[in-house]
Amino acid sequence: MTVVSANEKVSPVRNNKDELIQSINKLRQERNAIILAHYYQESDIQDIADFIGDSLELSRKASNTNADVIVFCGVHFMAETAKILSPQKTVLIPDIDAGCTLADDCPEDKFKNFREKHPDHFVISYINCSAAVKAQSDLICTSSNAVDLVKQVPKNRKILFAPDQNLGRWVERQSKRDMTLWPGSCIVHETFSEEALLKLKISNPNAEIIAHPECQSNLLDLSDFIGSTSKLLLYTKTSKSSSFIVLTEPGIIHQMRLSMPLKHFIEVPGLDGCSCNACPYMRLNNLENLLGCLKRMSPAIEIDEAIRLKALNPINRMLEMSK
Ligand code: 13P
Ligand code: SF4
Repeated sequence: MTVVSANEKVSPVRNNKDELIQSINKLRQERNAIILAHYYQESDIQDIADFIGDSLELSRKASNTNADVIVFCGVHFMAETAKILSPQKTVLIPDIDAGCTLADDCPEDKFKNFREKHPDHFVISYINCSAAVKAQSDLICTSSNAVDLVKQVPKNRKILFAPDQNLGRWVERQSKRDMTLWPGSCIVHETFSEEALLKLKISNPNAEIIAHPECQSNLLDLSDFIGSTSKLLLYTKTSKSSSFIVLTEPGIIHQMRLSMPLKHFIEVPGLDGCSCNACPYMRLNNLENLLGCLKRMSPAIEIDEAIRLKALNPINRMLEMSK
């Protein structure tokens, strides 16, 4: 087994896709690696992943795999969560710059100030945040369990919720709880155009509108179903409708089309018709850098042990409370 050092350049593997996939398959076996992929990854990555899921399912999978190496095809906070849960494993991410605006716009020092201004509040952080922010939180949630978890917080506790205000507002309405919200949002879900959505609905009157709760409330108000990526996928499988207007990152549509080839899935463009509905961070990963990270065993996620231990508590609490 050849381990290429982090500094050594991997020869440019730009041949065809089959060769790339063959090389990945050989190395994943040699390294006893599992490839986890979020639904927003490009189709080629989803097609070779061992497991595809939303952020909650991916966390669960990362915490109970027998693999020695986790190749996390998603964004940094997701790979970091895998490392928090499985510190003995090597957690690789194809591109270390695959960040997230929600996590990046909630720096740990500003979050500390925010918390200190509300010392009597119970702190719930959406999983889209750094380990250092998780370490300052009482409970972590994902888009699939946030409503359920907020409902479990005793009624006499005030709640701080960070960093996604759109998800926070939706959770407030669903749970009938008031929360103090950190003013963050996702660049991808904020750019969907209401005008484009309404035009699509006019030309596809029988299509159901399905949305991720990171969308702004004017779009959520127009939606027939709201949920995490996994819940959206499940909904399209169980609904009697045969066409759907999908208000989230279009990577998820790959799985929808694979499992329901006869149903029709429609993407919503961003403002001014841009294609900014694709998450620029998720899309930094590709087959080439996936192979590269398996060759070099780098970039690997490292976390200060004291922070990891503090961040583990609210994640474990989430996993316990959302069984
Ligand atoms: P999920 O919880 O549906 O995986 O969403 C994560 C995310 O980053 C959405 O933008
Ligand atoms: Fe972050 Fe938005 Fe990308 Fe999800 S879609 S990873 S919230 S930037």
